[in-house]
Order: sequence, then C-alpha cells, then structure tokens
Amino acid sequence: MSKKVLVSGGAGYIGSHVTVELIAAGYEVVVADNLSNCDLTCFEGVKKITGRDDIPFYQIDCCDYASVDKVFTEHKIDAVIHFAAFKAVGESVAEPIMYYRNNLVSFLNILEVAKNHGGCNVLFSSSATVYGEAEVLPVTEQTPRLPATSPYGNTKQMCEDILRDVVAATAASEGVVKGIALRYFNPIGAHPSALIGELPRGVPNNLVPFITQTAIGKRECLSIFGNDYPTADGTGVRDYIHVVDLAIGHLHALKKVCSGTGLNIYNLGTGNGYSVLEVLRAFEKACGHPIKFEIAPRRPGDIATCFSDPSKAKAE
Ligand code: WQD
Repeated sequence: MSKKVLVSGGAGYIGSHVTVELIAAGYEVVVADNLSNCDLTCFEGVKKITGRDDIPFYQIDCCDYASVDKVFTEHKIDAVIHFAAFKAVGESVAEPIMYYRNNLVSFLNILEVAKNHGGCNVLFSSSATVYGEAEVLPVTEQTPRLPATSPYGNTKQMCEDILRDVVAATAASEGVVKGIALRYFNPIGAHPSALIGELPRGVPNNLVPFITQTAIGKRECLSIFGNDYPTADGTGVRDYIHVVDLAIGHLHALKKVCSGTGLNIYNLGTGNGYSVLEVLRAFEKACGHPIKFEIAPRRPGDIATCFSDPSKAKAE
C-alpha cells in the first residue's frame, strides 16, 4: 500500500475531499497547490475535519520543475494524485496556449520528477469529456474517445496518452511509474461537515454551484442552457456523483495501482443520468423554496446526454 501521497491541487474542490479521505484511511498526505482557482478555505477546513494541523503544504506551481523536485526531495512520495489543472471549458477555447501549457507541463513535470526519484504510482484526474457525444450509452471504458471539442478536453486526452506511454516506457526501468486514469463524470456536493465544498473563484461555470449560489441570493437567476435537447424534458442529462463517493474511489484506485500493469482506466460515475430540470427540482425540494430560472440558448460545446457504466470500478 502506498504510504505517502502527494496531492497536487489538494486545496481545491475534489483535492480537499480526497485529502480528508486519505488521512482518514491512514495515509500521510503532502498538499501542493498554487491557489490559482481557490484560496486556503478548503485547506483550513481539511485541517479542522481531520484534526491535523501538520499537513505539509507547498504553495507551488507544478509547471515549475524545481518546485516539484523540491517536494520529492523533502518527502519520499509513494503516489501522486494529480488534480492540478485548469478546468473551464469555455476559457480553454479562448486561451488554448495557457491551457496546453499549464495542463501538459505540470503533468510532464510530475511524471519526470517521479521517475527521477525512483518511480511512484500516479492517479490522473481525467474526465468524461473524453467520450464526447457518445453514440451508445451508458459509456464504458471501451467506448471510443471522440475528438475533443475544446482544448481542455484535448489536454485530458493527451495526459491519458502521456501517462500510458510513460507507464509502458518505465516498466523495465529503475523509476517505475504505474498509473491509473480516472474518468470523472459530474462531481457535486460537499463533505457533510460543510467545512469544505465547491468554492470556485468568480461566476461558477458548473450547474450545482450556480444553483446553490442562486438559492442563497448571491446570483439572480439560473440560466438553463437549452430545453430542446433530445432528452425526456429537453434539458441536458449528466451523471452526478457525490464528491465524497468520488474521493473514496481514489482510495480504491490507489490500492489497485500497486498491483496493475499498464495504464488502467476507470469511470467514476453512478450510472444514472439526471436532467438539469430534475437536479433543479431536487434542490428546490431539499432546500424548501423555489429557485428562479430562465431558459437560455444552448451553451456552445455542450452535449445532450452523458452517463457512465461504472461496473468496472464496482467489480474491481
Ligand atoms: C451540467 C449541465 C449544462 C450551468 C464539465 C466538464 C467536465 C467536468 C465537469 C471538470 C449541462 C447545464 C450548467 C448552468 C446549465 N470536469 N448547465 N446552467 O459541462 O457536464 O461538464 O464540468 O471540471 O469535464 O466538461 O458540467 O455542470 O457545466 O453542466 O443549464 O449555469 O448543466 O448545459 O447540461 P459539464 P456542468
């Protein structure tokens, strides 16, 4: 079992929830984050939840090789969970160079440093985005990847391929890198303590933080992007997985990566698709009051429906 885990992007939404579960399961965790899309609120929350005031924290940019190397020099890292990346689809279309540079260089640095320090296990945060608008649903890990519709999606595909090649090339070397790509569907929700959650800087891109901010009056009205999709109620259908369930998936993947050969890929979803209107109605019921919404045009790059077949992760 891996003992010391570097969580890059560990101060962010998913990274903070994963850090909590890792510590609860007995791992030592080192967090690295450049705080480009969050402040220290979640990291402080992680310390409160775990009762640990001594979690090593490096405010570094993984695009800086020397900074990543310093972490590996100061700690014997057994595994890396790599979350550190830009993730806004629309922004990636406007700023492709920024996205390719950040998401690719940071991952290449992690892999090269890991290899040079004797190797380690790597979990890469991939995305259901790699499937695009699949012809057959639900999508399994064998469903062909479609050409990405955004630079963001391209970086996820490219990083999967980079990891696959590095795993193959290092198998017989001294610095063995083993890897798993986890394809997340739509992570939502928060730790039951409410000390950590999804706190994006600025206007949220994703559905659920937009609903929650509208519910508390921080936003005027939710725009539903299209009600003319070929779905039961016309709004987009996605597979929303609770972030704590997703985090626990990483614990299982860490055990799996040690025994695996080659690059292993897992869908992390629930297998259920829900429409935007269904999510909105469920939230209204849970919080006990209506949430103002309007029907807006489709969002460029969106697809009608995507949900997972999660049976591989469940079985293994
Ligand atoms: C969900 C549904 C929208 C906002 C993206 C990435 C993916 C993953 C999660 C990254 C869609 C609709 C949304 C709003 C709306 N990774 N919507 N009004 O686009 O499925 O996935 O985020 O971090 O890789 O591509 O998630 O939450 O943006 O949208 O109607 O204000 O909600 O059209 O149908 P998406 P989302």
